[in-house]
Amino acid sequence: MTDLVAIARSFFAHGKGILAADESVHTATTRLASYGISASAEMRRQYRDLFFGAEGIEQYLSGVILFPETLLEKGSDKKLFSRSLAARGIVPGVKVDLGTEPFPSSPDELITQGLFDLPERLAAYKKQGAIFTKWRAVIRIDGDQLPSAQALHENAKRLASYAKESQIAGLVPILEPDVLLEGNHSRTRARAVVEETLEMLFSVLDEQSVDRASIILKTAMALSGESSGKKDAPEEVAEDTIAALLKCVPRQIAGVVFLSGGQTPNQATDNLSAICRLSRAQEGTIPWPLTFSYSRALQEEALTIWKGEEENVVDARAAFLARLSKVSSAVSGT
Ligand code: 13P
Repeated sequence: MTDLVAIARSFFAHGKGILAADESVHTATTRLASYGISASAEMRRQYRDLFFGAEGIEQYLSGVILFPETLLEKGSDKKLFSRSLAARGIVPGVKVDLGTEPFPSSPDELITQGLFDLPERLAAYKKQGAIFTKWRAVIRIDGDQLPSAQALHENAKRLASYAKESQIAGLVPILEPDVLLEGNHSRTRARAVVEETLEMLFSVLDEQSVDRASIILKTAMALSGESSGKKDAPEEVAEDTIAALLKCVPRQIAGVVFLSGGQTPNQATDNLSAICRLSRAQEGTIPWPLTFSYSRALQEEALTIWKGEEENVVDARAAFLARLSKVSSAVSGT
């Protein structure tokens, strides 16, 4: 087994998963503002410290995805975040895409930028302690019109080029084609789009000869759109999500992680629990390990308590650990 494959598989240690803490400056600012916190660079650092500084997170976390600025920052213990996470057995990684822009051939859709100077940036992130990377593509559903085949293809090509560069740089790639929850589509439509997206992605990965064994897929679940008025039962989500994965994802990849995508913490936990239960029930037919790579669903309760105030840190961290414990149990079935 190569080092990259061993690292990729290590994220799926029993009951552990990945915290996505790689919000861009823009996303972090908007997120903090939604909790009444005005975000300076120092406030963003405290935001990261709130989560990384919580005692005991290593029971639940195998990895943390950082934003590039955070790779260079220190926690309240005066140690670089990447070092203190690694010292606790939590592998640090970094988001390497540079966000999205409208796709010229279909301006209502987005394509992800960041390939231009990627090799140089990967070399720098590696020196700064990153062991793995993430690239997010955004797929929007609008009736039967979107996503367009061209946008799916362009995003897949960029994901494949990124994955190849990351492997060349000696960094495990996490490929995130994020099929958005926004919209009034049915769960059946979401499942069809997840399938279309993954089929396109894996065919382009093969065309570009990307090594399958060291990649991790980060995917959305098959869910009814948030303005559809439909509440899916976790068992329905599990059935459609697992069916889509079984149809489209080659058995050789290192594993599959889920994003929370705007689900509430309880929904993201219950749906993950149903997915992992179904996967255990079908033992032998599900070829990859599964776990979480959540941002919003892990952070929401803690941020509501924190409000940017030092006096609330202890309680906010306790809420974060309580949610981590539930999400971890969802994966391990304990
Ligand atoms: P959510 O879990 O909030 O969807 O975030 C995951 C992520 O990494 C988005 O890029």
